[in-house]
Amino acid sequence: MNVEIFKQGTDNWGYILRNAQNKCLLLDPLDANLYEKKIRSLKLTPIAILLTHYHQDHIAGVPELLKKFSIPVLGPEDNEQTPEIVTDKVAGEIQLLENTIFCYTMPGHTRALNTYHFKKSKQLFVGDLLFNLGCGRVFEGTHEQHYASLQHLKELPIDTEIFVGHDYREKNLNFAKKLDPNFYSALQLEDLQESTSLEMELWWNPFLKAPSFEAWKRLRDLRDQS
Ligand SMILES: [Fe+2]
Repeated sequence: MNVEIFKQGTDNWGYILRNAQNKCLLLDPLDANLYEKKIRSLKLTPIAILLTHYHQDHIAGVPELLKKFSIPVLGPEDNEQTPEIVTDKVAGEIQLLENTIFCYTMPGHTRALNTYHFKKSKQLFVGDLLFNLGCGRVFEGTHEQHYASLQHLKELPIDTEIFVGHDYREKNLNFAKKLDPNFYSALQLEDLQESTSLEMELWWNPFLKAPSFEAWKRLRDLRDQS
């Protein structure tokens, strides 16, 4: 899939996933105007909206977009907390744009969080599960759930390209450099791309390198206080 990446809001990443026939999927729209402008200027036909989780900064643009485009909204399965705008609660495999998309349930940041894996093109959209050199905070889920979700992520092929929910590259690099100035002296902000890869994160991300749940939890607490 071709991926249009753009900033929306303060530091959210916006994503439009398009195929060769100019059909597209809209992922986690916060700013409906921005999505609509891109759809019009690129002459795309939206097929569906995909949501990773129900925080406002990932779904706020949905009602406005639905006034312009009559398309389904696919989101995580959760009986209590999936927002009402979700028309199809998805998990497992779904077929869209000649692709099989694997929807993994990876809660912790929220009680319901879907990541979307395009295995053929080795692309994974993770919302606020993971960031470059960081991971999401634990809000409505539990630390145990979040840690387990990160372990699940680590089992995917290392050449998987990962598209995250926010641009926290600078903040997370600064945090990592404070943790281990020596190790991170080899890494500069310019080395961190907008999208990342599992290989890159396995090597550099302190939250994926933590050797145990306890070590990961200490790190998470430290980052929450920073
Ligand atoms: Fe979030």
